[in-house]
Amino acid sequence: MNISVPRRVTAVAALAALALGGLTGTTASANPAAAAAPDIPLANVKQHLTDLQSIATANGGNRAHGRTGYKASIDFVKAKLDAAGYTTTVQTFTSGGSTGYNLIADWPGGDPNQVLMAGSHLDSVTSGPGINDNGSGSAAVLETALAVARAGYQPSKHLRFGWWGAEELGLVGSKYYVAQLPSTERAKLSGYLNFDMIGSPNPGYFVYDDDPTIETTFKNYFAGIGVPTEIETEGDGRSDHASFKNVGIPVGGLFTGASRVKSSAQVQKWGGTATAFDRCYHSSCDTTSNINDTALDRNSDAIAHAIWTLSAGTTTPPGTVFENTADVSVPDNGAAVTSTVNVTGVTGNAPSNLAVGVDIVHTYRGDLVVDLVAPDGSVYSLSNRSGGSADNIVQTFTVNASSEVANGAWKLRVQDKASADTGYINNFKLTFP
Ligand code: TRP
Ligand code: ZN
Ligand code: CA
Repeated sequence: MNISVPRRVTAVAALAALALGGLTGTTASANPAAAAAPDIPLANVKQHLTDLQSIATANGGNRAHGRTGYKASIDFVKAKLDAAGYTTTVQTFTSGGSTGYNLIADWPGGDPNQVLMAGSHLDSVTSGPGINDNGSGSAAVLETALAVARAGYQPSKHLRFGWWGAEELGLVGSKYYVAQLPSTERAKLSGYLNFDMIGSPNPGYFVYDDDPTIETTFKNYFAGIGVPTEIETEGDGRSDHASFKNVGIPVGGLFTGASRVKSSAQVQKWGGTATAFDRCYHSSCDTTSNINDTALDRNSDAIAHAIWTLSAGTTTPPGTVFENTADVSVPDNGAAVTSTVNVTGVTGNAPSNLAVGVDIVHTYRGDLVVDLVAPDGSVYSLSNRSGGSADNIVQTFTVNASSEVANGAWKLRVQDKASADTGYINNFKLTFP
């Protein structure tokens, strides 16, 4: 008999388990384990835009690829990230005979095999300072990265941020980044989030219609603040997410509209006027005056929400226990036996500190080989004929199970390798921290 009884340690949870019928069902709560994303201060994002405007003004009025204003923009963003504790890398490439630059910033920690990435292009066109296109995305991603540092956030996934060069010349920088990523590194990217034009002066609220999980995460945020969204249709593939999507990486992103005209239905929905979402698109008037603060604020908070939600890696409340209390007798000097616990309702991988509770009643523990077997068959040794003539193994082992998918049938495997003494598995439980 194998009965997995997911149970929680609190009294409330015990009642919930009773309500579910006691023996079946998963934990019912939505996502209390994921830390809430912080509110991204609009004033900070706007200060970054003011600084990018000053950089353009001091460098001939733009921040375009191959111009001094671009490299000054890279230096500006990099200095903030370095000061906050990021590991930054400037990647160079060549386009149109000029050196281009991508900036990559890694937040130390998290699962190196599951990388969540967010990025935006940092270059402008030559005709203007590029504050909405794309100071807005660049500043919001920067401020979200700084908020990660301020919070001391330790997500399950590894976080990486990117600022791309030469997007305006055909996604050149992001294409270069993806092309030079070894396929083993590409495979670790669990998602790429793109932000290009998120403060348009006559804004719409557009969500990219790509990876469903990413799309839903953004839509949920806007639904929560009562702002209607639409699917982005003003040119799929017109920004850096296309470089990632083309090699099979799940992508998503936000957009508030470029030169297309807002329809009357959209004016009804979002306010504003039936004119271009951004009348200064690719023009000299794309300055700090060309920003809608409300749109910039909402989109910045949506970025933080998505990064926090998608990097948490688990939706299991802390202390969730899955256990099997059924006794399994261990034959003397015989074949291995197992007790199974079925883990359900956990998103992503198991934790690096999975608590494995073992309760084996036996008259000579030195007979016993005890392993944890993950759903895919991977074996983690817990005890190998250790402890000599002592009896029983009643112990909680901490196992780094972060390379295992959490959901599935986990087994405690016990084999008695010497004759005379006998016993049984009394209890086997897994606690998700
Ligand atoms: N940087 C893009 C461009 O100049 C802006 C843009 C247009 C865009 N349509 C888009 C960005 C759709 C994202 C999605 O073409
Ligand atoms: Zn752009
Ligand atoms: Ca024995």
